[in-house]
Amino acid sequence: TSGGTDAMKRRAGESAASTVDDGDVVGLGTGSTAAHAIRAIGERVDGGLDVRGVATSFASRELAIECGIHLVDLDEVTGPDSAGIDVAVDGADRVADGDLIKGGGGAHAREKLVDAAADRFLVVADPSKETAALDRPVPVEVLPSGRGVVADAVREAGGEASLRRAERKDGPVVTDNGNLLLDCAFGEIPDPGTLAAELADTPGVVEHGLFVGLADEIHVGTAEGVRVREV
Ligand code: A5P
Repeated sequence: TSGGTDAMKRRAGESAASTVDDGDVVGLGTGSTAAHAIRAIGERVDGGLDVRGVATSFASRELAIECGIHLVDLDEVTGPDSAGIDVAVDGADRVADGDLIKGGGGAHAREKLVDAAADRFLVVADPSKETAALDRPVPVEVLPSGRGVVADAVREAGGEASLRRAERKDGPVVTDNGNLLLDCAFGEIPDPGTLAAELADTPGVVEHGLFVGLADEIHVGTAEGVRVREV
């Protein structure tokens, strides 16, 4: 139905994709909502739009290839004297006040690299992602041998870490970077900036899924259309 969640995600994705300009380097996010944006960008490429995409995961790379989007590696467009990333479009598991929890798909390390490097970072979401406070477990990518150390630090910080396990394999989920994931439950997070700094300071943490102060626009697809707000 037009009010279904997938239709809302599609509207959000199409709204963000419509802001991409000719010549842009575009960060391509991960997840079902970002996938709608990638498809919409692909359709614009079919119509003659000239862009280069930077994938944030194996999955977004696979989809971008399927959609005919010319891809470049992050290290080709970042660093001194390089083009940079004009715009990134990415989903989120939670949006509160423009701060995000990401990493439900385990891709947040490369997502954060790309999203933070972009001149404009557009978040695409359906209304179920918007909450007053960030209230979901925070995915934390860890070096495999450091998972105990990080779990201890999370407990120390008032949280509870659980290793993300694979569904169709015995053992853990292994990220695109060869690391493990701890889903760290803190309950409601009243001060995401402080927790983000604590997690980032913990040895063994490769990247955590708190995206604080990074988003520029939130595109929320609804049953009727799209709500866009700047943050
Ligand atoms: C990937 O690790 C995540 O950060 C996704 O961007 C996030 O989980 C949103 O995914 P959906 O759009 O599928 O909800």
